[in-house]
Amino acid sequence: MADHAHNKRAEFARAGRLWRPIGVITRGTTNQNRLRRFDRWMANDPAVRGILQGAAAPIALDVGYGASATTTVEWAGWLRRIREDVRVIGLEIDPERIQPDQHGVHFALGGFELAGYTPQLVRAFNVLRQYDVEQVAAAWDTVCSRLAPGGLFVEGTCDELGRRSTWITLDAAGPRSLTLAWDPLHTNYPSEIAERLPKALIHRNVPGERIHTLLQACDRAWEHAAGYAPFGPRERWREARRMLATEWPITPPRRRLSDNLLTVKWELVAP
Ligand SMILES: C[S@@+](CC[C@H](N)C(=O)[O-])C[C@H]1O[C@@H](n2cnc3c(N)ncnc32)[C@H](O)[C@@H]1O
Repeated sequence: MADHAHNKRAEFARAGRLWRPIGVITRGTTNQNRLRRFDRWMANDPAVRGILQGAAAPIALDVGYGASATTTVEWAGWLRRIREDVRVIGLEIDPERIQPDQHGVHFALGGFELAGYTPQLVRAFNVLRQYDVEQVAAAWDTVCSRLAPGGLFVEGTCDELGRRSTWITLDAAGPRSLTLAWDPLHTNYPSEIAERLPKALIHRNVPGERIHTLLQACDRAWEHAAGYAPFGPRERWREARRMLATEWPITPPRRRLSDNLLTVKWELVAP
């Protein structure tokens, strides 16, 4: 462990002379399994699967994994279901939080510049939440400009236990979609997800903004689907989402999901 700390400090000193990671150190709060809703979604998302399966030597970067290696190691397990030989790398801007390599995952110093990698997939969860909203677009651009051709960046947030989670999927052209995912048993109304919206949207849940209109529509559909309550909150949300799809251009997933989930095109919620 002493060797590890020494090596990582040396790596940081070398890096400090040559380049500085882009971004700022923020709180390192994390939790075992807190990103499971994102991980489950990603493991079944056709775009994510396509980019990893189609690459000669796929790389996935977790930017800002926080005070422990847990969520990156968990993510690696999900990613390997898609592509066994994917290289998974955790980047942290705080040199004190750089972990020893473990479970086949490499941990290193880095920020939004991606430490020189050109990955197929980048994830940054609960990172931009602590930045100013004015810094979001530059961070998105910095990451997206370094993706491999066809690559994806997912920027999201969740609560401490991961019961409510939201994320934006971006590519080189910018944001593509917003996904909302919540624990069916711990959420009374879909709009409760508003407190965990990504930074770009969290201050926009006010009348006149598209995200507000969408969340209100979700709540109305949820109310209309009240007759399905005896079948449980998952069935009720399936019905609510089916109703929503009659008014909004959304394609409900065909599979049955354990999470209550909604994905919409970015244009429908963009500020
Ligand atoms: C709240 S923790 C999130 C941990 C984990 N991703 C999760 O969601 O549980 C945020 C971490 O991101 C790191 N961070 C902030 N900006 C960063 C950047 N530009 N590049 C890499 N790490 C960054 C912080 O130092 C902090 O450790």
